[in-house]
Amino acid sequence: MKKMIDIDFGSTRYDELVELRYKILLEPLGLKFLDAHRQKEMNYLHIGCIECLDDKLVGGLMLAPVDNNTVRMMEVTVDTKYQREGIGRAMVKYAEKRAVEAGYSRIVMHARLTAVPFYEKVGFRQEGDIFEEQGLTFARMVKDV
Ligand SMILES: CC(C)(COP(=O)(O)OP(=O)(O)OC[C@H]1O[C@@H](n2cnc3c(N)ncnc32)[C@H](O)[C@@H]1OP(=O)(O)O)[C@@H](O)C(=O)NCCC(=O)NCCS
Repeated sequence: MKKMIDIDFGSTRYDELVELRYKILLEPLGLKFLDAHRQKEMNYLHIGCIECLDDKLVGGLMLAPVDNNTVRMMEVTVDTKYQREGIGRAMVKYAEKRAVEAGYSRIVMHARLTAVPFYEKVGFRQEGDIFEEQGLTFARMVKDV
């Protein structure tokens, strides 16, 4: 069984999340996690998915405030061997609930082109031009919640 949790910035779970993000999102591209990023993440809402059997973090994402109405969803990650089991969909659903509870009505994000079909399945739509960053192509996506 899996459960969704809020993760406190600076906690042991947060370290586990940073590790997972590094392994799934950054390492394959040869990118490093910069400590400077950590301070920026202090005010973000961090969300994780736990496999209850062994208490292991198998997925995560973060929500960064943009303005009074909007949050940016970032670094959506599911551990490789747990992908395509519905965890990504469940995490996005939980993140939407938390965003609404925090008073937001709109979620925006930059999706890797390879992940655009996933975000469309969970209700996001493309808005604006695609763009390149660090050798990857991204689409701007948005969902009203
Ligand atoms: C993209 C990612 C977050 C999706 O999470 P997931 O748990 O694998 O997705 P789910 O199982 O919840 O999938 C929900 C639906 O999207 C589909 N889907 C998931 N990933 C997809 C992909 N890359 N391409 C096309 N469809 C995809 C699933 O088949 C499923 O469709 P269904 O409802 O018709 O069965 C996850 O695969 C991942 O971490 N990938 C590597 C990192 C990454 O690219 N992150 C996104 C950065 S923007």
